[in-house]
Amino acid sequence: MNIDKIIEKMTLHEKVMLCTGKNSWQTKDYPQHGIPSIRMSDGTSGVRFQKGSDEDGAVSLSGAESFYESLSGRFDDDDAMERTYEATAFPSGSAIACSWNKALIEKIGGAIAEECQKLGINLLLGPGLNTRRHPLTARNFEYYSEDPCLAGDMAAAIVKGVQSEGVGTCMKHYACHNSDTRRTRVNTIVSERALREIYLAPYERVVKKSAPTCVMTAYNQVNGEECSGDTRLVRDILKNEWGFDGMVICDWGAVKDSVAASRGGVDLQMPMALTSSKHLEQAVLDGKISEGFVDERVRRILSTVFKLKSWEKERDSVDFEAHHKLAQSAAAESMVLLKNEENILPLNTEKIKKAAVIGLLAKAPVYQGTGCAIVRAQQVDIPYECMEKTFKDRLTFTYAKGYEADGTTTEELLLKAENTAKAADVVIVMAGTFLPGEDDDYNRKDMSLPRGHRECIERMAALGKKVIVVLANGDVCEMDWADKVDAVLDIWYSGEGMGMALAHILSGRENPSGKLSATVPVKLSDTPAYLGFDGNIYEIPYNEDIYVGYRYYDKKQIQPRYPFGFGLSYTSFEYSNLTANVSETAEELRVLVSVDIKNTGAYDGKECVQLYIAPKKDARLPRPVRELKAFEKISLKAGETKTVTFELSGRDFAYYDADLCRWVTENGVYTVEAAASSRDIRLSAAVEIKAQKQPVRLLKEDCGFHEIFETERGKMMLFDFLVEKGLLKREQIDARVEASLAWAFWPAKTFLDMGASGVVSYEEWQKFVEKVNQALVK
Ligand code: BGC
Repeated sequence: MNIDKIIEKMTLHEKVMLCTGKNSWQTKDYPQHGIPSIRMSDGTSGVRFQKGSDEDGAVSLSGAESFYESLSGRFDDDDAMERTYEATAFPSGSAIACSWNKALIEKIGGAIAEECQKLGINLLLGPGLNTRRHPLTARNFEYYSEDPCLAGDMAAAIVKGVQSEGVGTCMKHYACHNSDTRRTRVNTIVSERALREIYLAPYERVVKKSAPTCVMTAYNQVNGEECSGDTRLVRDILKNEWGFDGMVICDWGAVKDSVAASRGGVDLQMPMALTSSKHLEQAVLDGKISEGFVDERVRRILSTVFKLKSWEKERDSVDFEAHHKLAQSAAAESMVLLKNEENILPLNTEKIKKAAVIGLLAKAPVYQGTGCAIVRAQQVDIPYECMEKTFKDRLTFTYAKGYEADGTTTEELLLKAENTAKAADVVIVMAGTFLPGEDDDYNRKDMSLPRGHRECIERMAALGKKVIVVLANGDVCEMDWADKVDAVLDIWYSGEGMGMALAHILSGRENPSGKLSATVPVKLSDTPAYLGFDGNIYEIPYNEDIYVGYRYYDKKQIQPRYPFGFGLSYTSFEYSNLTANVSETAEELRVLVSVDIKNTGAYDGKECVQLYIAPKKDARLPRPVRELKAFEKISLKAGETKTVTFELSGRDFAYYDADLCRWVTENGVYTVEAAASSRDIRLSAAVEIKAQKQPVRLLKEDCGFHEIFETERGKMMLFDFLVEKGLLKREQIDARVEASLAWAFWPAKTFLDMGASGVVSYEEWQKFVEKVNQALVK
């Protein structure tokens, strides 16, 4: 397809109209130019596509009539769900990330792609991979982790899975979209280093590992620049620096100025926005922006459209049964066993004959989030039914509702629950957190469970029975009740297969293998962004900087309730033989790490092996205590041993130096750590990096002696200069003189001004600094 030839034939108006949607879900087609249209749809854990939503005019913003209609349009109310096609609801992002299983999420990607194909969808508006900065961000359930390596690798795998089946992906929401209250107007204030190391890093990983077809720009601003406007985030970093060659789409309604967005590098403005198009066309005609910007957008849109069309596969049917099974095993791998006193789980039916199940969620489960990520599930496993089915006559179940659908309870409900529990050998309390419908004030308001759920837990715990709490939630919550119960199983919003997966874990048919994708703090005020979450509502300062998630708890030595990467199993694993071999040249570094893992318990199981790097002791910049750099999930039969290997690169040891505008891998001795969680380091090994080319740090005019002494060259040139100016005699230069200069806390220029009787002019100092810099660059 000769895109340039097509562009030559198109009028300005046609081109401008291609830069916005044909409606809410399609790009514009031009049969006269051989340009087809592609269809896109949400979401992040399954397909959400509404019947008729892309027929011309429907849910579009054209015309007063459809404007009126659009006022009643929501994603997730009953009416919308009625019109939504059925699809498989896989575990939400925050849940599936707890599986730490790249092969599994890749497989899910393939299944979602098949369901897209059945609906004629070319582009999936997912995955969501923003770093989970604060647990109250409502849409965190769509995002994977507080850690960029885990988030990036899981996202890279699902992108691979979806795209290898012939459907495009769109990573979102780029970038720093971490608050869902006033999300279209907030300005994130974040340091360059935190931006690079924490917030952009997952995107960069995916761009480099899996070449996603699209990226969606966020609603918010970053440091005063609109993410969907004239921002360096898109043109300079995403496209130029990382070489992303796909299409950039703005979030729905995120562009506030179509001219700025064209300059910034946003290619497709969604949904159809006619005022924006007119504004852009007029700006080109008035010479306010060159047509080249429009052509560039068209070029990227066309190349993506043609690519996705060429990938297109017709599909008449989908094996929903198989997808449901996949959803069940994905749910099982997402669940995290947080506490299991005296191995109460799996339930031993030799001893336990009656189980009381308390809580409405056992019969009306919450298994996914809300808003545009909602899926109309093809079938939903009901936990209570699945428990009965799984245990058959080995265990009798009784049920009490415990609380109402809105999370409140009454004394009557609690008494009934107590009576039900008293007659049983074990009590399973189903609790969880809900999200409100998506609106302009969407963030969660607190981190605790609804009162009714908490009271149920407390009252059951007071009975002196064995109590297991099963928790369904989108992001972490306060668990001040955890010490009073025997077991806690976090099942997250793990999708339509959650009920059966839960039953299988309770019975021991599945061995839990999930590990936390985010830290569970003791209380909300312990969280890293506690003081800077809402900011002054429209300005959100990221004061915690690079210390997000476990990086913060580790640095501040705060004990979380459950650390990042933590999760129990019915079996145990032993780590041994950690080795790390460095091979390096000045340009390239490879560290091969390997470790043996043995299943030392009685159950077959899966272990997620985590590899952290602890920085060298005297790093130039402050660094986190440790950072996750790789992970692998392996399956081991009881007694079996396997070797896990990892390959690390220079970047894994680097920090982002904002002064130099680049990543720096300092030479020195690092520690690689093989761990079962961020607080359970099983083995560590020293790794010495020697040969990396260290960056040249140019002197500034107001530098101190300290900076001049950083290089031998600089030091020698300074002494030559001082001798030349008659300020020192060559023979006076010794360690004492050097120490005295190094002691001086003023800029060298000021120090000379104060003590050198005016013999060094400003100009001479400036020349000296330039000369040193030239020598350093050579
Ligand atoms: C959401 C996106 C979504 C889009 C289309 C926006 O409001 O933020 O995540 O893909 O709508 O539904």
